[in-house]
Amino acid sequence: MTLDFARTQSSARLSDSEREAILADPGFGQYFTDHMIQIKWSADQGWHDAALVPYGPIALDPATNSIHYGQSIFEGLKAYRQTDGSIATFRPLENARRFQRSAARLAMPALPEEDFIRAIEILVEVDQAWVPDDIEKALYLRPFMFSTEVGLGVRPGNEYLFLLIASPAGAYFPRGIHPVNVWLSKEYVRAAPGGTGEAKCAGNYAASLIAQAQAIDNGCDQVVWLDAIERYWIEEMGGMNLYFVHGSGDSAHISTPPLTGSLLPGVTRDSLLQVAKDLGYSVAEERINVDQWREGNASGEISEVFACGTAAVITPVGHVKSTDANWTVAGGQTGQVTLELRDQLLQIQHGSIADSHNWMYQLVPPSA
Ligand code: COI
Repeated sequence: MTLDFARTQSSARLSDSEREAILADPGFGQYFTDHMIQIKWSADQGWHDAALVPYGPIALDPATNSIHYGQSIFEGLKAYRQTDGSIATFRPLENARRFQRSAARLAMPALPEEDFIRAIEILVEVDQAWVPDDIEKALYLRPFMFSTEVGLGVRPGNEYLFLLIASPAGAYFPRGIHPVNVWLSKEYVRAAPGGTGEAKCAGNYAASLIAQAQAIDNGCDQVVWLDAIERYWIEEMGGMNLYFVHGSGDSAHISTPPLTGSLLPGVTRDSLLQVAKDLGYSVAEERINVDQWREGNASGEISEVFACGTAAVITPVGHVKSTDANWTVAGGQTGQVTLELRDQLLQIQHGSIADSHNWMYQLVPPSA
């Protein structure tokens, strides 16, 4: 049975002019809409008390279990203004299912897919004026859940809180789609076999920060993760999946590292495998190691490399640095295939080209 959502409208909504000023230059994750969704779970009642409420702080007991032990997961997806004025999101069922898989890995309860999607529908409907009308912008949706049990015992919580907040988003990286310089981290790993690499859990991001800081100390923008065992196989970049373009022109071959269990199964990653195929490229999930990247780059066989994710869409890699090597990718420029894929995906998401895979999910119809 799907949940009924109570609704309390905010009495402190921003004025149109205040909101428009934010939407003109939202950055990423800095401003939040007028409302949020909350749903509680307890061992005896299951999911209950679903509600739309004004956006605002939440009070937590200092002994709230997840603050201490990190039982906390999240998702990221976007609501896009369509060319006809309606609002749609992209493959929300994929996020709902990944949220369930992340919950299972962290011994948390599964939120039914229909409640996950209903929460998004209600929030975006009420805060629809916050969805920007610009192909380079969207409303970023952040569903998350954490244990609210009070106590210091290390065990799965007997109470959880699901929240959904929304934040207007422009470019994730301050320099837009400018190529990023990456640091190959041999000292730190993101995820090991049997660990939580496949789950979108808060701890994975906390554990990445020191390597990210090291990347910056080495003059780079982002860290690239290698596998935990050999420290040799390329896995991901920061919080994004990676793609390699081999050759060029119509005969280019496009590859991404396979989901070995320690990589995050990105929705953008999965979608680009299909978009690239639709554009006529050959695509494959293939392992690639540090030497293959360096040598392929030197010979010209690897022509472009980019990272992908919901937040930043597609970001080119311009330069690679490690303790013992460094090389420039695609002359430090954004390659043609990278640009084409990015443009194609954004056009599907904003409804300006055909959605041949039924990926778009309407949240708000065009106004009459
Ligand atoms: C994304 O690429 O969408 C991410 O997961 C980054 C996010 C944590 C801001």
